[in-house]
Amino acid sequence: MKKIVVLTGAGISAESGIQTFRDADGLWEGHDVMEVASPQGFAANPELVLDFYNKRRKQLLTVKPNKAHFNLAELEQIFDVEIITQNVDNLHERAGSSKVIHLHGELLKVRSTADESFVLDWHKDLFVGDLCINNSQLRPHIVWFGEMVPMLDKAIEITETADVLVIIGTSMQVYPAASLINYAQQDIPIYFIDPKPSVSENDFNNLTIINDVASSGTDQLIELLKVNA
Ligand SMILES: NC(=O)c1ccc[n+]([C@@H]2O[C@H](COP(=O)([O-])OP(=O)(O)OC[C@H]3O[C@@H](n4cnc5c(N)ncnc54)[C@H](O)[C@@H]3O)[C@@H](O)[C@H]2O)c1
Repeated sequence: MKKIVVLTGAGISAESGIQTFRDADGLWEGHDVMEVASPQGFAANPELVLDFYNKRRKQLLTVKPNKAHFNLAELEQIFDVEIITQNVDNLHERAGSSKVIHLHGELLKVRSTADESFVLDWHKDLFVGDLCINNSQLRPHIVWFGEMVPMLDKAIEITETADVLVIIGTSMQVYPAASLINYAQQDIPIYFIDPKPSVSENDFNNLTIINDVASSGTDQLIELLKVNA
């Protein structure tokens, strides 16, 4: 089976009702990202940061995967599909995709501030005073700006094995996620789906831009993949 590697960003979840980040003038749900998504922000105001993720977690439990998530899950019937997502939501898994890795962590998990390998599933609110078994504060299992990306090596390894690379709904502004495109083998087909694409067809060999939202964009993608299969 051909291996399709799909890199997704906030844009794929926009039609599910989760705001992207850069479409809102660089604010994330009204907040400066450094306030709510950096170790410094957490040190300065842990209550605000935990409250921000409590709201995101609550919202996630009320939204559903959209057509684009389902289209990618269905693609597994014809291709070996691996998804590398920057998203912290679980909409790919809920749509049925079986191989998903989260570069920037997961909203429905928390971890110890003292030991990053101590991770728990967490579906409720998290407060200052919620501790791990070693009495350290728990924090969202999210990779904040300036932190290491533990899944990066795995993501690079997967990208290097792609026969086809698909990129959906990302502004390609957040590194190292945006650099993954450079690990694809020379000349493999690359499809980029975004209504405001941040790359042009001259930037990479064999790049096709689908200038559309993720739902109808992935419909077009499936047709193109079938033709070129
Ligand atoms: N759903 C989530 O988990 C979520 C939501 C917001 C932000 N974030 C985090 O913020 C960071 C933001 O970086 P990013 O590049 O993923 O997002 P971004 O907000 O920087 O860029 C979003 C991109 O999606 C595109 N877009 C908007 N509507 C779309 C649609 N309907 N279909 C397809 N594309 C659409 C925009 O044109 C833009 O290029 C990530 O690291 C991510 O972890 C996650």
